Amino acid sequence: MSDTRPPIAMLAELTHRCPLSCPYCSNPLELTRQDSELNTEAWAGIFRQAADLGVLQLHLSGGEPASRRDLEALVAAARDAGLYTNLITSGIGLSERRLRALDAAGLDHIQLSLQGTTPEMADEIGGYRGGYKRKMQVAQWIGEIGFPLTLNAVLHRRNLHQLPRALEMAVEMGARRIEVATVQFHGWALKNRDALMPTRVQAQEATRLVEAARARLKDVLVIDYVPADYHSDVPKRCMGGWGSTGLNVTPEGLVLPCHAAQTIPHLTFDSLRDRSLKEIWYEGAAFNAYRGTEWMRDPCKSCARKTVDFGGCRCQAMALTGDASATDPVCHHSPDHAALQSRAEAHAASEEAALVYRDAAGSAAPVPAE
Ligand code: SF4
Ligand code: FES
Repeated sequence: MSDTRPPIAMLAELTHRCPLSCPYCSNPLELTRQDSELNTEAWAGIFRQAADLGVLQLHLSGGEPASRRDLEALVAAARDAGLYTNLITSGIGLSERRLRALDAAGLDHIQLSLQGTTPEMADEIGGYRGGYKRKMQVAQWIGEIGFPLTLNAVLHRRNLHQLPRALEMAVEMGARRIEVATVQFHGWALKNRDALMPTRVQAQEATRLVEAARARLKDVLVIDYVPADYHSDVPKRCMGGWGSTGLNVTPEGLVLPCHAAQTIPHLTFDSLRDRSLKEIWYEGAAFNAYRGTEWMRDPCKSCARKTVDFGGCRCQAMALTGDASATDPVCHHSPDHAALQSRAEAHAASEEAALVYRDAAGSAAPVPAE
């Protein structure tokens, strides 16, 4: 496609191994095994290809990227390639020594996840006893070393009341930014809609709190906000538009237009073992499937917002309507919108639902010794 621009950001899923088992895990239902993961050299080559293609920011993610013993070497390789590096982590598996080694390797930024603002909540949601205490220790080391920090608070019906405290904690930790992300229901999280769906009142209160905090903390903290979109009328501009600004690479080297793209069954994904990143970005069938606006049907096709939100999220359209080219049902123009809103109310009213933790198939990973 001649008018396609290069991507700005690449998310490298270094591993699906993770010591936590969050019920809203965004990794695919079938996790990549450790023996299928790309090695250090392969990732280093991909980072060079990314930089050549025009990528500026590299997000090192997982699973838990600290489960990779070669994380420091990967950061060094990314910096050698000229990429800005951001580590997305729960903090589990990071010792002070490792953080200093990552600093020496050139790591630019850390994004630390927060499952709750109390040990009871955080350890219950993450399914990892003692995780909160270790995370707070890691946050202290991050501050002492001087890494720029973003706190990533994932919120849902069980912990939305902790939003004010999460904002305070971000300020206390010296974070420059907090991402207040209401759980998005893809992949594993779909199993937990009854347990995690916020109520409409909670969703509205969260928006009010975020707006008030943005005004109050405007010189202190940047607040990114991902609202509870099942309760919304306007869809999100997912991935900034399919195949427009970002891409994901899986632990085994498949290149995806977004982290949940494998939930769209008719798409096939190219591997970096077979094709170059440049070829895949510009010519890959999956990237061109929903790029731009040509693929749209009405109501999106004739809508003034079609280049604003690009019809919302393709993976959500797939999950909720069985058709990835449908209008995202979050949109009030979608014929499925009313049904989605009723469904959201029903999920939010399920008081007894138990958490279904992320399956342990990829979770029993050893974490490098402290
Ligand atoms: Fe966006 Fe489509 Fe809804 Fe228009 S009809 S607002 S393009 S999702
Ligand atoms: Fe795939 Fe939104 S998560 S397009």
